[in-house]
Amino acid sequence: MEVKNVAAIVTGGASGLGGATAAMLAAKGAKVTIFDVNEELGNAHAAKIGGSFQKVDVTNEESVIAGLDAAQAANGVARILVNCAGIAHGGRVITKGAAHPLAAYRRTIEINLIGTFSVLSQFAARLAAAGLEPIGEEQGVIISTASVAAYEGQIGQAAYSSSKGGIVGMTLPVARDLAQYGIRVNAIAPGLFITPMMESLPIEVQKSLGENTPFPKRLGTAKEYAMLVDSIISNPMINGETIRIDGAVRLAPR
Ligand SMILES: NC(=O)c1ccc[n+]([C@@H]2O[C@H](COP(=O)([O-])OP(=O)(O)OC[C@H]3O[C@@H](n4cnc5c(N)ncnc54)[C@H](O)[C@@H]3O)[C@@H](O)[C@H]2O)c1
Repeated sequence: MEVKNVAAIVTGGASGLGGATAAMLAAKGAKVTIFDVNEELGNAHAAKIGGSFQKVDVTNEESVIAGLDAAQAANGVARILVNCAGIAHGGRVITKGAAHPLAAYRRTIEINLIGTFSVLSQFAARLAAAGLEPIGEEQGVIISTASVAAYEGQIGQAAYSSSKGGIVGMTLPVARDLAQYGIRVNAIAPGLFITPMMESLPIEVQKSLGENTPFPKRLGTAKEYAMLVDSIISNPMINGETIRIDGAVRLAPR
């Protein structure tokens, strides 16, 4: 789909993979609105790329609806949604004899999985109801962010892998549901990418993670993630799929 002058929403667009995606879409002429809980970074990044920012917590349905209302008032009904909002929670099922705190498990699912579904369902309902002229064959495109941890979660990733496995699982049925409205639905499963989430790890850990990637032997860049978003948006035949972008890495148990 051609993105020039098209309204687009990027959740988690203040930083990392979402930040690079918002920048890529804006550079191609899309009217980008960043949804993020980080107001300071979100406003600064939106100003830098010539987009706008809405403070949206993807776990709060009213906040999602208010964000979509504001984005629509400014740019019209959005046709592109890229879900990048997420957190990385680590914790074993048992630590020092105690069970994994359920609240932390629930919070990870709430942000990464339910938040993704909430934004995509509200976005799709608006787009389906809008009766816009198709662009080429289609009305719009949704891309969500899973992880290779959906397939080979490591020790301590039960909550995170559950949340990302849910995104992989929903992608085909959501694509089937939205096919009648001309909306494509895909997900991206990144391997190890250098973003603020990853930069919180010690430099030696980052280095060793990069070296475990067969080729290229390094961490991916947010720009490379955004390149895949661009490819998915531009190719109408990609639908109902989760695409790994990982330099052939397969996560070891730990
Ligand atoms: N970096 C990697 O190696 C990697 C690998 C696989 C998957 N991912 C996934 O990619 C996505 C982006 O990660 P990133 O590395 O760019 O991290 P990041 O921390 O740089 O960006 C995540 C953004 O999401 C926002 N966010 C968090 N909770 C939110 C909420 N409730 N509502 C709205 N926004 C919220 C944060 O404020 C932040 O700006 C995440 O879903 C992450 O799980 C990242």
